[in-house]
Amino acid sequence: MPTPAFRRPLAAAGLLAGLLAVTAADPSVAAVPDDSVGRVLKADVAFLQKNLADAKAAKWGSPLRGVALNVAAYAAASKDAVLLEQANKVLAALAGKKPDVAAALSVAKAMAPKGGAGGKLDVPAGVTADIHDVMNVFALERSGGQNIDKDLKTQSKAVTDVALAELIAARSAAAGVYTLKAEVEFDAGKKTKAKWEKWSQDMITASEKAAAEAAKGAKANKADVAKSLSSLLGSCNACHEVFRD
Ligand code: HEC
Repeated sequence: MPTPAFRRPLAAAGLLAGLLAVTAADPSVAAVPDDSVGRVLKADVAFLQKNLADAKAAKWGSPLRGVALNVAAYAAASKDAVLLEQANKVLAALAGKKPDVAAALSVAKAMAPKGGAGGKLDVPAGVTADIHDVMNVFALERSGGQNIDKDLKTQSKAVTDVALAELIAARSAAAGVYTLKAEVEFDAGKKTKAKWEKWSQDMITASEKAAAEAAKGAKANKADVAKSLSSLLGSCNACHEVFRD
């Protein structure tokens, strides 16, 4: 079971929006190639449409919210206001103990990402995230997640599917920006803010590198992608060892 500390949402995200001026030098945002933004949006919208229509959808509230969070982040990055609003509606429909799957599905069905024009990835104004939902995107497919935990382990050894590697990287970059800005209860022992921020930033940096190379498709250097994915996996493991109870 998750600890209460991690269930607290990024409550102040909306209120702080005006203060969180994003500049090119801001280390707390991620950069993903424009083409990857387009492709991850297409894949994640399709994922929402498929899984929200699944008989198990009601049980998959957490990973579905996590994927909607990533759609929101990428919609904001690509300045697609319509899609951002739709992602927020899906999040609202899936909030609480009894997710309104039918309402979420009808919104998701109307989603048509423009994609293409990428931008800096950050926590969008007005969006609140729960670290449990952010992490559940990585969970196994049969648990409603995107199987990233498992696929990352194999692709980091040897990249057999560049398109999959690109999606893993883009999704992890989005998770990284949410993680970096999550409200977490730190302590004076092992669970320090500095460590949390370092591993979140490491997750972002490795994801950016993997996405930049994998976005080249058939021309990508697979060994380089695997190397970046391996660093990415290192950041997952380092953080879990200390912060995952
Ligand atoms: C900065 C810290 C941090 C990083 C980096 C991180 N995680 Fe997590 N992860 C957590 C915490 C904390 C939890 C427990 C969250 C909860 O359930 O409240 C968690 C939980 C999970 C879970 C279980 C889902 C759940 O919440 O029940 C999976 C799967 C997971 N992480 C995968 C990954 C993968 C894959 C990566 C790297 C690509 C990663 N994580 C990177 C902190 C991190």
